[in-house]
Parts: sequence; structure tokens; C-alpha cells
Amino acid sequence: MKMWAGRFRQPLDSEFANWQRSFSFDWRLLAHELAASLVHARALKESGILSSEELAKILQGLEQIASRAENSPGFRDDDEAEDVHHFVEKQLVNLIGDTGYKLHSGRSRNEQIATDLRLYVRDSIDKIQLLLANWLDVTLSRADKAGGAAMPAYTHLQRAEPVLVAHWLLAYVEMFLRDYDRFSDCRKRVNLCPLGSGAVAGASVSLDREMMAAELGFSGPTPNSVDATSDRDFVLEFVNDLSILALHLSRWAEEMILFSTPEFGFINSPDKYSTGSSALPQKKNPDLVELTRAKSARIMGAATTLFVTVKGLPLAYNKDLQETQEPLFDSTETALSLLPLLTGWMKEMKFDYVRMQSSVQSGFMNALAGATYLVHRGVPFRMAHEQIGKAVQECLEKGCELQDLSLEELRQFNPLFDQDFYSALTLESVLSVHDVSGGTAPVQVKQAIAEAKHRVALLRGEVHAHA
Ligand code: ARG
Repeated sequence: MKMWAGRFRQPLDSEFANWQRSFSFDWRLLAHELAASLVHARALKESGILSSEELAKILQGLEQIASRAENSPGFRDDDEAEDVHHFVEKQLVNLIGDTGYKLHSGRSRNEQIATDLRLYVRDSIDKIQLLLANWLDVTLSRADKAGGAAMPAYTHLQRAEPVLVAHWLLAYVEMFLRDYDRFSDCRKRVNLCPLGSGAVAGASVSLDREMMAAELGFSGPTPNSVDATSDRDFVLEFVNDLSILALHLSRWAEEMILFSTPEFGFINSPDKYSTGSSALPQKKNPDLVELTRAKSARIMGAATTLFVTVKGLPLAYNKDLQETQEPLFDSTETALSLLPLLTGWMKEMKFDYVRMQSSVQSGFMNALAGATYLVHRGVPFRMAHEQIGKAVQECLEKGCELQDLSLEELRQFNPLFDQDFYSALTLESVLSVHDVSGGTAPVQVKQAIAEAKHRVALLRGEVHAHA
């Protein structure tokens, strides 16, 4: 039986009927729909709409639907169910007869879909956070293992200054920690329960909204029925948080791609996550990270679709809102599938520390340390900059590095240069000169790794609390 055919004289155009259905994608909400229906049934019993026997029958029916959904693969093949809500009603009536129709008393699909989607987003946040914590753990252990190895840091994609490999990895750790935090923050606003909001004005029978919210693990009921049935901010917010995560993944992927070219040669992409060429026998292509870069576009596209879908909608529920589901599902599934693979990549990829280290030995990456040497001797920085710049110019003409200039040559630019200038130019000195919190001096990086590990351990506690 349809959920709404009474007032219609003519049946739906069959093509339209099929076209407007959402069951082909909203079946993903089935477990949430069943959980929400269960607490609604309990509230109906409390309000006297259902007898104890009816409640028992309905609960039993809902349980059976859940176990069939889990155990019989073809169970979802239903080309009549309009959406997941209709599907559950049909199945329930099949199992327990007309009592099944009582379940829809005092509720509307508008509040149901809002509730199911909130449960879906909350669940997805928990999954994403767990995967992020795994990625963070692996990256931190790579940072640990990198020890004192150095590499060039780039600005304008030109070699700028040497940094520890660990310091560079910690930059990504910060990005993903921010992402983690954004999801936690988003979760607070997601975690409210629309049940009892009805179609738009609030349920037409008295239902214990506090109880329903608590049973589903929500922190409380949504405060306004018009908002609750039309609001998809939580979807937008979540997918936008996914987009920022995707943006970080994409930037990371881009560096993996660049650094695995022989031109850089800093990393060797893992065989397990690379593919070959059908034409060129010598090739190994970093497909995983290339696809990551592209998949991020898909997630950002979903965020844009969501904004544009919702922006022109008058209050409250409009069918347009059905179109918010697929971008949500697609972006969530994309992110969920990417993260474990990228954690695998992170575990398996090899750093060529020798090559990284040799890249910091040339190209005047110690010029700032050279200028700092003069600053410590009282030279105003702008002058020191100019004088080291002149020394670099001389080196470029001679085809050498700063440390190859003699004291005599250096003293043309400033008489304050002394023998200890050479020790200020070594890689060790250049790194340790950045001895501020957040800087690349090895003592600082050691401390930063320990702190980041501590932060991740705290997050893990948070994830467990939700599980
Ligand atoms: N499948 C619908 C959706 O996803 C459920 C809500 C339908 N509500 C309605 N009034 N037609 O939005």
C-alpha cells in the first residue's frame, strides 16, 4: 500500500513514480530508520496509542527486518518501495499485518529522514575520526623513525631552508588534527534528535521527546519543529569538513606525487599501491595518490551541490531535500575508502634519506643562518641580508657554496666574518638555529612529536567514548 494515495484520482505516471523514488540510495539508512522507529514505537506505547501487545509485535517485526537485512542479500530488492520509510512500513505489515500501519501514528517522514540522516552523519563522523587517528599514529611513527634526517623545505616551490623530515611530516599531523577537531565540533550540532517534530508543526500526539532522544544517544531533542524538518546544516557542515580534509589529503597526495618523481627522488612509492603502464615497461605510477587528488574534487563537488540545493528553499520540508542524500553518501564513502589506503601508503612508502639530505647541502639553504650570524654580531638584519646576498652572488659566479668562500673573500662584504662563521653554516647549525617552539631544531621537533602523540592518545579516548 502506498503511503499517501487516498486523495489521488489517477495513478502516478509509472516513469515518474520510479524516477522520484529514493530507495535505490536511501537503503543505506535502513539500520538508522529501524532504530528510530523502535523508539517512536515505545513513545507511542507510553502515550497510549499502542497497547503492550501491539508494541511487542512491532518491536519483533522491526527486529526481524533488521536481521533479514543483514542476512539475506536480496532482501532489499524492492522496486515498489518509495523510500526507506515506505520499505520498512511495507515489510512490517508483511510480517505482522495491519498493526504495522499504526507505527506511523503521530510521525512524518520529514522528521524521520532528518533523524536518519543525523544518525548517519554521527556514525560517519565516528568512523572518519577513528581512521584519522590511525593515519596520525602511522605518520607520527614515521616522524619518529625519520630521526635527524633533513630535507629541503620549499617556498614558491623553490628550495628555502632545510627542515627535519619529521618536521615536515608534523605539518600534515597538524592539518589532520584540525580536521579531527572540526568533526568533533560538528558532531555537537549533529547530535540532536528531530523525532517528535512531525511534518512541520510538531507531533500531533504527545510523545516523550526527551526519552526518544536519549534512547538514540542524542544529547537532546531539536528545539523547533519547523527548523528540525527543514534543516540540513549538519549535512552541509559535515561535507564541508570532509572537503577540508579532502583538500589536505589532496595537498599531501600532490607532494607524494612530486617527491616520487626522479627529479625529486625523495620517496619511493610503494609497489603495493602503485600500478604499471601497459605500454612502457619501466614505469611505476603512483595511482593511489593521483586518485586521491582527484577524489578530493568529488568531495568538494558534493559540498557545492549541497549548498546550491538548499540555498533557495523556503521553510520547511521540500522534496529537494531528498537530493542532499547522494552527495552526502558519495562524499562519505569516498573519504571512508581513502583513509585506510592512505594509511597503508604512509606505512609502506620508503624515504630516500640520502637523496633528501644531499639536496640540502647545496643551493645556499644556509644563507639565512649566515645572515643570522651577522645579526648576532650586531649587524642590522637588512644589511646582513644584503651582505650575504652579495656573497651568494659571488658564489654563483664562481660555482661554489657559501662555505667555500675564504675569510678574505667574506670580509669584502663585512669585516666581522670570522672562523666560527663556517660552523654556523653546517646543516646541524642551520637546523638548530630554529630553536623556537614550532621550529625545526631537533630538540623542538622531538618535543613536538611527543606532544602530538599525546594529543592523538587523547583523541583515541574520545573515539572510544563514542563507540
Ligand atoms: N525520501 C524523502 C526524503 O529523502 C523522505 C521524506 C518525504 N517527505 C515527504 N513529505 N514527501 O526527503
